[in-house]
Amino acid sequence: MTTLYTGIGELVTNDPSQGDGTALGVVTDGAVVVDGDRIAWVGQRAHAPDADSRVDLGDASVIPGFVDSHAHLVFAGERSAEFAARMSGQPYAAGGIATTVAATRAADDSTLDNGLERLTGELLRGGVTTFETKSGYGLTVADEARALRLARAFTDETTFLGAHVVPQEYRDDRDGYVDLVVGPMLEACAPLARWVDVFCDRGAFDVDEARTILAAGTAAGLVPRLHAGQLELGAGIQLAVELEAASVDHCTYASDADLEALAAAADTTVATLLPGAEFSTRATWPDARRFFDAGATVALATDCNPGSSFTSSMSFCIAVAVRDMYFTPAQALWSATAGGAAALRRDDVGVLAVGRRADFVALDAPSYVHLAYRPGVPLVRDVIANGVPLPGR
Ligand code: NIG
Ligand code: FE
Repeated sequence: MTTLYTGIGELVTNDPSQGDGTALGVVTDGAVVVDGDRIAWVGQRAHAPDADSRVDLGDASVIPGFVDSHAHLVFAGERSAEFAARMSGQPYAAGGIATTVAATRAADDSTLDNGLERLTGELLRGGVTTFETKSGYGLTVADEARALRLARAFTDETTFLGAHVVPQEYRDDRDGYVDLVVGPMLEACAPLARWVDVFCDRGAFDVDEARTILAAGTAAGLVPRLHAGQLELGAGIQLAVELEAASVDHCTYASDADLEALAAAADTTVATLLPGAEFSTRATWPDARRFFDAGATVALATDCNPGSSFTSSMSFCIAVAVRDMYFTPAQALWSATAGGAAALRRDDVGVLAVGRRADFVALDAPSYVHLAYRPGVPLVRDVIANGVPLPGR
């Protein structure tokens, strides 16, 4: 069963062999043919083959579905009081995570499941067709495994983040907690995850602890990714490069040497910037021009979590990235789609080309630039995921 999509005034493919030949491969007056869950044809409407059925998108701008490579969706409760305090001048600290850990441990499975359902629904309606999510608010063997088990019903991209912070009960025994993470917790969680992550920053884990945990995760068959450089400069970014992590996330603080290392590892380790976190913690904005000028591969992700970035909107992240982090609109869109796919080492998503997954979004706008130009406006009109249009739109 094939479907021909037309009425696409501007089609962003992320395939430089298409259209204007830029990284976005923008085709004017485009068309897409979908066969099942895959793309069967992409190009100019005038050359499109016929199909079993036709859908006219009404002169939309069409983009690849967003790929959100960093989210923390398994949790209970919320921390709006902490946010309000920050907006009244309190600084952000990693310690707030403990509040969500307590609420998550106390919650039953259906509470966590309902939260996942709500947030994944938000993501999809906002045009995110692939997303990652982490454990990290359980911090016991049973609670971390539970988080991953629940998350796997929603995505294959699950990340074991037992090393989010040292929980209260191990406050005087950090080494004991690291032993737990690399021992029984990893054993229980590795079969439920694809990735292993560590929050390597002030108030969380130092670089030696992160190295130990990521090495153990790798030995258990997981692929490393890392939170680093959110709160201060440190050795985390270089550690991620050294361990060939798929991604190093936040990078709010990055030295010139860090940027050189990221550029040299551009085919291996993606720098994932998280504008929602700077926005919601009122942190210093990283300057994306430094990353692009150096030659790093850059992704944008939501970091959706109740503490530092409670947004599931990639459109919002793009707008902020453009306005405050000096991404060009084209760089921001690429980073939120193809960049996210690179950060998840996925070659089936993030690009609209023959054989890729039929994941795309029709915007109620003549150009993707409107994502930043019209901030806060719900421009995502139609979402097609795995070849299937999201109902009710
Ligand atoms: O990515 N940086 C560490 N983890 C989350 C924050 C989690 C929280 O505050 O609950 C982040 O920003
Ligand atoms: Fe995070």
